[in-house]
Amino acid sequence: MSDNATGPAEQKVRRLFSAEEIGERVTALAREVAASAPDRLLVVIVLKGGFVFGADLARALAAEGVQLEIEFISLASYGSRLETSGEVQVRRDIEVAVSGRDVLIVDDVLDSGLTLKFARGLMQARGARRASIAVMIDKPEGRRTDIDADYVGFTCPNYFVVGYGMDAAHAWRELPYVGVLEADKDEAG
Ligand code: IMP
Ligand code: MG
Repeated sequence: MSDNATGPAEQKVRRLFSAEEIGERVTALAREVAASAPDRLLVVIVLKGGFVFGADLARALAAEGVQLEIEFISLASYGSRLETSGEVQVRRDIEVAVSGRDVLIVDDVLDSGLTLKFARGLMQARGARRASIAVMIDKPEGRRTDIDADYVGFTCPNYFVVGYGMDAAHAWRELPYVGVLEADKDEAG
């Protein structure tokens, strides 16, 4: 596999975490989740960014013998990313009741934390027995609210990362690895 991809506007993506490294983390996280002995686990994948990690994690959980169901939710946050009071709205909701169930919310990145704090609060308000959070990338420096993920693939500095479900202006979601956009070197001279 090549280290770099070239895409829209000839931007380059420098690889941070390879597909192999990601695969190992997904297996390890699935073992951790399995060890928590979830009961009738409902995996709630946060669209769009969570779709690749969610698909891999669900299959890794199955390989660990965990029985689960999968649902999708789409959330939109409004307001400046600099405000702690950013409002989150449900664009597309899950289609099953969560009352009394163990819910695992799966997303790509935990940054400000506003999206996942809202998602967990929503599942708790609906009566989930447990509402845990799994993210592939945690960027603690971006946090604007009090929240942590229960399962983290990789912790990374405050880079804007792409690939493995994560986008920049709708591009790069399909990359099998996680990388960081690099400034155009030609432009910089
Ligand atoms: P939060 O509410 O600030 O934690 O935002 C989380 C959402 O913002 C994630 O689900 C991503 O969709 C998006 N996001 C945050 N940081 C990045 C990044 O570095 N790359 C791509 N998307 C990101
Ligand atoms: Mg997202």
